[in-house]
Amino acid sequence: MNEQIANIQSQALELIAASTDERTLDDARVASIGKKGTLSLAGALIKDIPKEEKAAFGQSLNAARTAINSAISEKQAALQEIADKAALSGIDITLPARSLPAGGLHPLTLIRDEATQVLRRMGFALADGPEIEDEYHCFDALNTPADHPARNEKDTFYFNSGKLLRTHTSSVQIRTMETAAPPIRIIAPGSAYRRDEIDATHLSVFNQLEGLFVDTDVTLPDLKGTLEYFFHEMFGTTTEVRFRPHFFPFTEPSFEIDVKLQIKGQAPRWIEVAGCGMVDPAVFEAINATRKDNALDPEKVTGFAFGMGIDRLAMIRWGIKDIRLLIENDTRFLSQFA
Ligand code: DAH
Repeated sequence: MNEQIANIQSQALELIAASTDERTLDDARVASIGKKGTLSLAGALIKDIPKEEKAAFGQSLNAARTAINSAISEKQAALQEIADKAALSGIDITLPARSLPAGGLHPLTLIRDEATQVLRRMGFALADGPEIEDEYHCFDALNTPADHPARNEKDTFYFNSGKLLRTHTSSVQIRTMETAAPPIRIIAPGSAYRRDEIDATHLSVFNQLEGLFVDTDVTLPDLKGTLEYFFHEMFGTTTEVRFRPHFFPFTEPSFEIDVKLQIKGQAPRWIEVAGCGMVDPAVFEAINATRKDNALDPEKVTGFAFGMGIDRLAMIRWGIKDIRLLIENDTRFLSQFA
């Protein structure tokens, strides 16, 4: 190697080795292979070199540049390692990480999923409908007369357009029967809205689960057996279930269902959990009139329907005394279910 170049290289390598940080390392780079660095200036002399020595000189130049470049890269890596160590000094990276609290499902989701699974095992399929409804699907088709108190402006949220926030999930029954043909076996969990005064047992937005079974020979014992089984699955097989005669416009006969339960810290008592009944032929009649296939002819089909409050099921299951806990997102309450 050309002696001059060998000197330049060894000086540069010394400077690189002596550099203690990014800045001094960069100075060493500029001083050697920078535009006006020692090696670059020596390279400019190539034009004055005798022809036969040019090739050897050029090789020396390249070898020196390669050596200097790799020394710079190595030094850079070494300096980075020192900087990383310094940054971590005083930090124990072997300490276990702080644990992040795991999320959990909301009690309403838990009880809704459980109820849905029991009913799906019995062959009910999920159905859905809009929360912004019209009076026809929420009331008229459900055989609810114009002067029924539930239709009152004091009880129902109406839009200026005349539409309303559905007061119950029973409207999904109608929407399903408009298009599906028997046998129909559906459940519809979802929100419902009422202009209720908010207190420990009432919210203006709550959750229901609706059910409907329509076929050619559905009977009252089918209704009783299905719902008895359902509540036994939800609250235990020894739970007493009773059907108390009641009135709903869309079912005849109609019942309210009570289960005898002991809520935590209380004496056992009958608790109302659902409404149900045999679908009123007037409901079939109204929907059948809108269909061309006569599939819901009240002379041919019968059915049962039921509806229950999901919030209420959760309150009963876990002894929750105030329904507002279900919407407050207080982690002290919610973490008990995670
Ligand atoms: N829609 C009723 C309510 O919100 C509950 C209900 C009662 C639903 C009887 C039904 C039924 O399907 O047959 O109080």
